[in-house]
Amino acid sequence: MIAAASIQEVLTRADIVEIIGQFVRLKKRGANFIANCPFHNEKTPSFHVSQPKGIYKCFGCGKGGNVVTFIQEHEKLSYPEAIRWLADYYKIILEETERSPEQQQRQLAEEGLRILNEFAAQYFQDTLLNTDEGQAIGLSYFKQRGFRKEIIDRFKLGYDPETGDDFYKAATQKGYSAELLEQAGLVKNRNGSYYDVYRGRVIFPIQSMTGRILGFGARILKTNDKAPKYINSPENELYVKSRVLYGMHQSRQAIGKQDECYLVEGYTDVISLHQGGVENVVASSGTSLTEDQLRLIGQLTKNLTILYDGDPAGIKAALRGLDMALAQSFNVQLVLFPGGEDPDSYIQKEGGAKFTEYIKAHKQDVIGFRLEVGLSEAGKDPVKKSKLVNEIAESISRINKAEDFSLQHHYIREASQKLDVDETGLINLVNKYIRERVEMERRQNRRDEVLPEANTIPVTDEPVMQPPQVNGEDQEWQLMSILVEYGAKSYEGYANVSALVYERIDPELLDNAMVRRLYDMYFNFSEKFNKLPDAAYFINHADESIQQKMAGLLYAKNEISHNWKERHNIETIHDEFNYINDVDSTLNYFELKKLMVMQEDLSEKIMQEKDPIKEKQLQAKHIELKQMERDIIKQHGTVALRIFRSRKKN
Ligand code: UTP
Ligand code: MN
Repeated sequence: MIAAASIQEVLTRADIVEIIGQFVRLKKRGANFIANCPFHNEKTPSFHVSQPKGIYKCFGCGKGGNVVTFIQEHEKLSYPEAIRWLADYYKIILEETERSPEQQQRQLAEEGLRILNEFAAQYFQDTLLNTDEGQAIGLSYFKQRGFRKEIIDRFKLGYDPETGDDFYKAATQKGYSAELLEQAGLVKNRNGSYYDVYRGRVIFPIQSMTGRILGFGARILKTNDKAPKYINSPENELYVKSRVLYGMHQSRQAIGKQDECYLVEGYTDVISLHQGGVENVVASSGTSLTEDQLRLIGQLTKNLTILYDGDPAGIKAALRGLDMALAQSFNVQLVLFPGGEDPDSYIQKEGGAKFTEYIKAHKQDVIGFRLEVGLSEAGKDPVKKSKLVNEIAESISRINKAEDFSLQHHYIREASQKLDVDETGLINLVNKYIRERVEMERRQNRRDEVLPEANTIPVTDEPVMQPPQVNGEDQEWQLMSILVEYGAKSYEGYANVSALVYERIDPELLDNAMVRRLYDMYFNFSEKFNKLPDAAYFINHADESIQQKMAGLLYAKNEISHNWKERHNIETIHDEFNYINDVDSTLNYFELKKLMVMQEDLSEKIMQEKDPIKEKQLQAKHIELKQMERDIIKQHGTVALRIFRSRKKN
């Protein structure tokens, strides 16, 4: 642990403008500095930094905090790691509090390996770039693979000479013991003399999230050799395979920013994708995905897309361990590449834009994918099919968190259609698996009193779901069509739907001038004539643009409704009984919008407030608003759901 006094020293020393200035171009604006926000894409700056207060705040995406949170967020580090980063920057020596003897021992071993690996990576890199052999053999191999210089640098690629013990000699001359070199997997002893394990190979350093060198992968260059194609570092105090993802250091920011992580098979896939401009990618390198690796990704995003070559072995490998990802609430998608191609070869051949296009067009969710593979395997065999139904239900049952509820339902619907089984029956089967698992955990834990009942849904404090991304203009028109179509219908606690809208939705929130005008027309009419205007009033209006817009709006709705009923024999969401859903989701949208507007106003006030007590009060208010926003989102998948559905129809 870092001593409290040391943390204090770092905090006093760190200058927020200096630190943030390392990552973004700050411009002076009044008392503050502004920049384009590094946490979301924008063209005009809404990212503010206040030097006297030591804080930053983005009015676009809402991110804000002090110098430590900035480093945490930007560099994807934990709090102590961010403190270490800053201490490193200001050359402050951190005092550590007491450790147990084992901890000290471990720390020492790790430290030794870390320094050695740093040295080795540097040595291999130098050899690749600055020696004749390195250039002639290693560098020309990378060039022939299509790797450009900047990418070779970014991934610190290297080369170990063929001679046999060049590295061993250089390392021992530097004072590294043969024992440590062996432990790191860099050298081996044969008949009393040491040789380089990676001799004649190109080197891929494996880095931690923060850029430490944990180990190496080394690829052979000669084709006729019996030796293995790749040699990887053995596991040791520093390198624990199951906790490392290749490329995490170089990709972490893109993964966070794009809110999606691609998972590929190996080093060369990661590197080629980066070179093609696709930077949100890591490789699990030889193991099927582990829980620790998922946790690492989960800090950055919950959207995982697995990219594999499409041979049957690859498919089976990709599917293993995926239930784990589902259980950890990942939204997992799969993309297979066409015959003989892997992500590396595909992007080298087609380029980044085509690659991204391909992924978009071929993404499949896991359960859909498993369904497809299973169905083609089962054919008409009823026994196999019933086995498949059970397997799918089991998988779906693992998605069992409150925030995944609509996702689970989506899978149930999809599976029941494709498997041609009754939806209710499938729900029962899924519930059975949930109960069984809860039962099993109960037996394992033997702590009956604290266990949840079967079928209850655990509620977490932090909803994972993001505010629904909706098109505000659609929502505003939606409000109009609700008024016209359902205005006179009943709504609990209000005279009718129009009264509800009048009381709960502030017309100031309407951005679209025409909607605003129609809204006023609607309520003026109702006040004047003491009844609600009907569709005809708008459709026959003197202003032709109003006529057209309203006609289009109402016509589209009825048409869709009609078609769907005819074609699929199902009721649409615009049916009589579902108008309450429509009203509620529109109401939610405007409530969320209002909260966001209020939050922005408050943020501005907070930035300008000089009195610390008043500032605290404003901040408390801000937190309260944020909580209200979360509550609405937590309660309702409805807004998102409707948007999702109406998109599908178009
Ligand atoms: P490949 O066999 O495609 O490796 O494995 P490559 O270097 O791209 O070779 P060629 O040029 O296509 O023949 C893909 C990834 O699988 C991992 C590596 O990370 C490699 O980038 N791998 C492969 C290993 O870790 N060990 C192996 O023995 C083979
Ligand atoms: Mn390959």
